[in-house]
Amino acid sequence: MESTDVPMASEMFQAQAHIYKHAFSFANSMVLGCAIQLGIPDVIHSHKKPMTLSGLVSELKLPPAKSNGIHRLMRLLVYSGFFATTKFLDDNLENQEGYVLTASSKLLLKSEIPNLSPFARAMVDPVMVNPWQSLGDWFLGNETTPFETAHGASMWEFCDQNPRFNKVFNEAMASDSQMMSLVVKDCKQVFHEMDSLVDVGGGTGLTAKTILAAFPHLKCTVLDLPHVVANMPDTENLKYVGGDMFHSIPSADAILFKHVMHNWSDEDCVKILKRCREAIGDNDEGRKGKVLIIDMVLDRDEDEANMTEVKLIFDVLMMVLLTGRQRTEKEWEKLFLEAGFMNYKITPVFGLRLLKLQLIERIKEWRRVDYDAFPQLERLVLQGCQFLTEIPSCFEDISSLLSIEVWRCNESVVKSAIVIQETQVEEYQNSGFQAKIVKAKLEALDQSNVANRKLLVAYAEGTVVDQARVNMTNGLRLEEIGGCNGK
Ligand SMILES: C[S@@+](CC[C@H](N)C(=O)[O-])C[C@H]1O[C@@H](n2cnc3c(N)ncnc32)[C@H](O)[C@@H]1O
Repeated sequence: MESTDVPMASEMFQAQAHIYKHAFSFANSMVLGCAIQLGIPDVIHSHKKPMTLSGLVSELKLPPAKSNGIHRLMRLLVYSGFFATTKFLDDNLENQEGYVLTASSKLLLKSEIPNLSPFARAMVDPVMVNPWQSLGDWFLGNETTPFETAHGASMWEFCDQNPRFNKVFNEAMASDSQMMSLVVKDCKQVFHEMDSLVDVGGGTGLTAKTILAAFPHLKCTVLDLPHVVANMPDTENLKYVGGDMFHSIPSADAILFKHVMHNWSDEDCVKILKRCREAIGDNDEGRKGKVLIIDMVLDRDEDEANMTEVKLIFDVLMMVLLTGRQRTEKEWEKLFLEAGFMNYKITPVFGLRLLKLQLIERIKEWRRVDYDAFPQLERLVLQGCQFLTEIPSCFEDISSLLSIEVWRCNESVVKSAIVIQETQVEEYQNSGFQAKIVKAKLEALDQSNVANRKLLVAYAEGTVVDQARVNMTNGLRLEEIGGCNGK
């Protein structure tokens, strides 16, 4: 009997084809780059009807000897969906076959918006391709990124030192941002309730301009590295600031990051998000501070197959070029929590789930009020937390109150010498976001040497309190303040 472990010849040839297909995947990139370089989509578009091979070769002004090469190039590009062929009758009523554009090549037209040609060209630029050759060496070496292995500098330093590539990269990102008008149209409600917005790492400002076109009442600021925004002219409601988001972010009602967070490690993202909290700070009463993140969310269960592949490629791209990555919702959530945000919302864009709008809204407006009932306590009270004045007994045996945290539905108050925002939460035991925060607080509180440790949980849903109880350990008192929801 034949062993079932021995693969059939057909299986082996299929496996061989699979290997070859992937070994030559770069050919697809290069052929696409070549078609853009020659302007093939534009030539077919200008022709306004199906274009024969001979017509294409003549319009491209190539020597007839190259005709066969164009036929083969186009055959692969038709196969991969960038062009299609169609039969038609020419002016002499003779049957002909001609090339036409597809949805993908329509996005590569220089005369139209959006035009993704600069993005596709930049990705096949040798500066971008060479670091892929260094991936293996990078694993074995000590450089921070394969980009650094290949070019001896980080990508942002390299852009600073190389005006040609700086221009190529900035134009690539600006072309990607041309798709933003669709996002803005789809997510109008996100931009309605604000007066000012800072686009952090906003490149040459195309995203900000697109948002301004739809919401002209806004005051926008683009913060990017000095070599990116140098010589960009300010307009009445668009200002460019050269700076470093790790040092400071200008204040605004909303801070936007488009394809920025995925460039950075978790540690760096937390640092940036903490800067955001300062930027949407507590100065103006009633301001609705928001952080908007436009990035991918890895979600294999819900994505279409080719979307997953694009996301996984982008994930490795971030490893090759920078220190960043693509993240699952859980991984995003962990960042938000560590940075001290307590509420977030994901808005899928176009149902594709390729782009999602990550919304981190501040839980409530931080506000300093006179808290006369408890003069011994630090006077930092959250709006919406006034119900605490009705329960003075909770505070009687407490001499200092260093942290009050409240979130939308389930409100919790931790009284201890702990700055909760610094809490590191390594593992979660419960799927509920708010329950995780309670757990983090409990763990932090548990490790502290504060006398009279007490956790006050004001709850709207029993689950949070139940979870808190599960995690209770020695010496910690739990007091429940019921029914605070809606106050
Ligand atoms: C991937 S690009 C995204 C550009 C733009 N948001 C877009 O989507 O078109 C990342 C941007 O972050 C900028 N950047 C890198 N480090 C920065 C820093 N420390 N402070 C501010 N911007 C920075 C880069 O110059 C670049 O323009």
